[in-house]
Amino acid sequence: MAIGAVEAFRDLFPDSRDVQVVRAPGRVNIIGEHTDYNGLPVLPMAIDREIVIAFERTGNPGVEIANVDDSYPSVGFDLSADIEHYETGHWGNYVKAAGQAVWHWAAEHHPGAVPLFGIRGVVAGDIPQGAGLSSSSALVVAAACALIAANGLHIPKPELADLLASGERYVGTQGGGMDQAVTIMAEKNYALKIDFSPLRVRPIPLPRGYVIVVANSMVPANKTGAARVAFNTRVAECKLGLEMLKSHVRQRHPEIGNAALLRDFALAVPDWRAAVGHLPEMPMTLAEIADYSRISVDELGAKCLVQQDGTLLGEPESGFEPRKRCRHVLSEGQRVELAADAMEQGDAEALGRLMNESHASCASDYEISCPELDDLVRVMRRHGALGARLTGAGFGGCAVALVKEAESAAFTNNVWWSYYENGARERADGRNRDDILFACSPSDGAGLIT
Ligand code: GLA
Repeated sequence: MAIGAVEAFRDLFPDSRDVQVVRAPGRVNIIGEHTDYNGLPVLPMAIDREIVIAFERTGNPGVEIANVDDSYPSVGFDLSADIEHYETGHWGNYVKAAGQAVWHWAAEHHPGAVPLFGIRGVVAGDIPQGAGLSSSSALVVAAACALIAANGLHIPKPELADLLASGERYVGTQGGGMDQAVTIMAEKNYALKIDFSPLRVRPIPLPRGYVIVVANSMVPANKTGAARVAFNTRVAECKLGLEMLKSHVRQRHPEIGNAALLRDFALAVPDWRAAVGHLPEMPMTLAEIADYSRISVDELGAKCLVQQDGTLLGEPESGFEPRKRCRHVLSEGQRVELAADAMEQGDAEALGRLMNESHASCASDYEISCPELDDLVRVMRRHGALGARLTGAGFGGCAVALVKEAESAAFTNNVWWSYYENGARERADGRNRDDILFACSPSDGAGLIT
């Protein structure tokens, strides 16, 4: 991958004198979905698929980046504190997100470095796109690492992970910090248990003799359009649910007013299950939630629905579902703790059970699965996976399965036949099998390749 990027760089910029290369891996999440932006832990691992950028520093704030895949047009812009967006969905927005974030960091911590030097470079990668394997965060991280190296900055890893987690919201998705943290802080051969605010990571090996197999449902998991609205709606529903829960327990827990995240609520109210059980079961309008929470609709909207561009998220036609969303997030946070313990004890069966429970909760309470993903995890379990679940944001993308290493070749053959080839589905869509169904081992975090 790196060699291809360097060759393409030399072809494109034959006058260059000094080329450097950065890499940033994709990731799968073993368990802990949609917990990160609620302050609750996740348990992902970096995979051995990556984005690389071969680059050289320019003498001014100009950034010029080409892609070896020419379906992605070259991007060119100047670094600044407020970089104008490309249209929604343009890949260059991820490079701009990195540029703007690093600029802000430098302006605050190292004002002498501003205006920053830009880079010219070429991007290459083998992380399947739109598959929920975090190729976009890998691009943000790789671009940031290139700019950091080009400007001789030093940003400690946890700080960089936080910076880029908020920096990536530039593209309009209200994601949490999992993708950037694991892409930056991963260690070879280990998954990472990640806790947030403050960011802390604990490397944990997979149970000995087991691997994670990734399979693409072939339903695109884009971060734009309807999927982005659906994602941001889940984020809002968690905040709305928190307001309702706080209102419900306020008399018994007067200190609860300070809880800003579902994590804070779970810490203050150990019996959170009972409180969630009291929330109305039916979908609710904003007005009903405001009424329950005893605050005005305007105040509630300002607290829970404001988007990155300052507009308010629209109310879904079918209503908000705070009870189900909170039940998923809070139970998922517990499953991550149990899964980390199971992994540390090498208990693959327990980990598999928790992965299955996580999928059920993602599907029924968080409603981020789809028929294809449900089918895929069933197929994976039928062929011997100890556990299987969707991974990442959902609404399509990939599933992960915990499989005995010795059986992984037979397992992938069987899943290939059952899910991709059997029947009239033609799901593989002519794509290379290794791009859609593969066993992966935990890889190292991002950095310069020397
Ligand atoms: C996306 C976001 C992450 C996380 C996952 C769901 O990948 O970028 O921060 O919220 O979805 O677990």
